[in-house]
Amino acid sequence: MSFIDAESDAPDVRRILCLAGSLRRRSWNRLLLQGAANFAPSGLNLRLYDELDCVPPFNEDLENLPPASVQSLRREVSKADGILIATPEYNHSFPGVLKNVIDWLSRGSHSVLAGKPTAVIGASAGNWGTRLAQAALRQVLVATEARLLPAPMLYVARAEACFDPDGRLSDLKLQAALTQLIIAFEDWIVLHSHRD
Ligand code: FNR
Repeated sequence: MSFIDAESDAPDVRRILCLAGSLRRRSWNRLLLQGAANFAPSGLNLRLYDELDCVPPFNEDLENLPPASVQSLRREVSKADGILIATPEYNHSFPGVLKNVIDWLSRGSHSVLAGKPTAVIGASAGNWGTRLAQAALRQVLVATEARLLPAPMLYVARAEACFDPDGRLSDLKLQAALTQLIIAFEDWIVLHSHRD
């Protein structure tokens, strides 16, 4: 995926780490995050963490000496100014792969999600656009003490109609809504960076 280089150390660039709750190669949620990267204003650097399939199932016996993949993800989350999560809806909730990762991130010597500005979006092929998945995900993120962007919400229904055959976000209303959400998220990150 052609995300902007996240290693830029420019002090005025805010880094947003993107997590997709789907491992599917042509996932609408990954494409939505790609769209977010493409439509983000300058000064925001969005990067997809594309190795969620390397994270093993959570095991409390290992939480003080977690696998390398978990340590790497914890570092990425710590370095990021914000986390943007795009979730599919599986059986009226969010996928286990995402819950597994959140459980890992919430443990250890400290939760790297605590105090972290976090935004949730989601796309599904159905008519309801991941409403139930996002509600469930927000409930879990509250427990981690992540600082959840309260609004706007973005529920992408009938996702296949929003992208062109090459996977580019082509729906103009969705482009505008996504851009609005990213700008609100940048404001949210700035607000919380002043509080710290
Ligand atoms: C689904 N899907 C689905 N959609 C929905 O709107 N509500 C639901 O409860 C479910 N449940 C569900 C369960 C399982 C196990 C799968 C695999 C799928 C459909 C799902 O939204 C669709 O496959 C999305 O395209 C998945 O997201 P990605 O992979 O495109 O990002």
